[in-house]
Formats: sequence, structure tokens, C-alpha cells
Amino acid sequence: MLNDVEIKKYLKDSQIGKRIFFYDSIDSTNLEALRLIESSKAKFGDLIIAKTQFSGKGQQNNTWESPEGGLYISIITASKVSELSNLITFTAGITCVEAIKSTTGINTNLKWVNDIMYKGNKLGGILTQSITRGTLSTNITGIGINANAIISNINNKYNAASLAELTGSKIDINLLITEICNYFEKNFEIYQQNPKLIVDKWIEYSNINGLKINFEHDGIRLSGVAEGIDEFGYLSVKVDDKIFKLISTKNTELFY
Ligand code: BTN
Repeated sequence: MLNDVEIKKYLKDSQIGKRIFFYDSIDSTNLEALRLIESSKAKFGDLIIAKTQFSGKGQQNNTWESPEGGLYISIITASKVSELSNLITFTAGITCVEAIKSTTGINTNLKWVNDIMYKGNKLGGILTQSITRGTLSTNITGIGINANAIISNINNKYNAASLAELTGSKIDINLLITEICNYFEKNFEIYQQNPKLIVDKWIEYSNINGLKINFEHDGIRLSGVAEGIDEFGYLSVKVDDKIFKLISTKNTELFY
């Protein structure tokens, strides 16, 4: 059972999760993080947790179904404004893979650019938003993982499933949140010191190189092969002899 006292007990001496804002139900943990930032109450490492969300946000204005049993959190960080900030989503992705592995023993993988996958099913996603003032960016990293939620009866266009449904056993959601905090702290440090390592790990956890990619360029559908990701998080796709650099999921579809 999701419980902030239990989470605090598990947490090591980390900045991430030092302050926890816990809600039984909220519109969206990302919106709550935004409200904290806008009212100047946010601190680095603040963790917002909800048991359910009634207006959960996904990528590209999609809604994020948030039934009880799922994991819905947002983490607030700050960094200097940088062209590398796309890598915060990568940082969160590898964090989720590592935290799920250490909590459940399961090897998940990543799908461009914000999906957490297990055997072709979408287990979760990441929504990163940044608010910039002067040279400082305050970042909201929203993470949703279908941990123990029952997903199979939800309108399922993304082939979504939960860890519990796929493995047949309930997972310790408090421990999973704690591990996300611990790994995110470590990985955020790496993102700031040596961002190339984040890109390398993301490539390893996604196995993206060599995959066939369909995307749209100037209104034309193109198809090519993934050839790597640069230090800013741009995906290179080779179409015939030309290289295209893609940055987001917009009009981009991956074939596995
Ligand atoms: C996606 O795959 O489209 C991203 C989904 C992100 C969902 C999480 S749940 C916690 C946080 N609060 C939100 O409203 N969205 C993110």
C-alpha cells in the first residue's frame, strides 16, 4: 500500500525525496509541481506523489489514465539553462529501468523517447517540463508506471500493461519510489558531470541503433535506420545517403 512514511523510512540520505508532498488524489503531480514552483515554494529534490490523478498528463497533450495501484510522481530539480536539457528525460528513463530492476529483478527497456517497455508492452512513461527564469531552469520530471494497477480493462491503444499483470505478482510500490529517488539522484549527477554517459546508457537500454524508424519531414513520410544519438539527445536516422536528426516523438514512430 502506497505510504509516504514507509517511503521516508526506505530513503537513504538523498536530496531527492527529502520533502514529500503526498496526495490521495490530485489533478496531476506535474501540475502540482508547477504550482509549487510558481508560488516560489519549490525546493530541489521535492517529490510529489499521488495515489490517483484525475487529470493525468501524457506526452503531446494526451491524458494519462491514473487508476489506483499505479505510480504517479513528479520530481523537481534545477539546472543551468542548457542545450542538454533534453537529456533529463533520458536520465529519468534509465533511472526507471534501474529502479525496476533493483526492485523486481525485471529487465525493462526504453523506447524513443519517453516510454518504459517490457516485452512490447508499455509499462510507463515520462513527462519532463521546464520553467526557465534567467539562466536557471527548474525541471519537473513526471513519471508514471503501471505498477499494480489493473490496466487490461482500460482503452488500450498503447498496448499498455502493468508490472503486476505481466509478472503475476504485486510489487512493493514504496520501495520502487525510493529506488527511483536514489537512482535519479545518482543519474542526475552524472547528467551534470558527464552527459555522454547518460546517452550511452540510454542507447544500451533502448537498443535503438539499427532499428527501422518511420517519421515525417516537411510533411513527407520517410523511413530510415537509427544510427545513434548525439550528446544533445538528437536521434540520427539514415535515409538512403542522407542523415536526419530527430528530437522528439512528434510524428516519429518506431518499429520493433
Ligand atoms: C507519456 O508516456 O505520455 C508520459 C506519461 C507521464 C505520466 C506521469 S504520471 C505522473 C506525472 N503527472 C502527470 O500528470 N503526468 C506524469
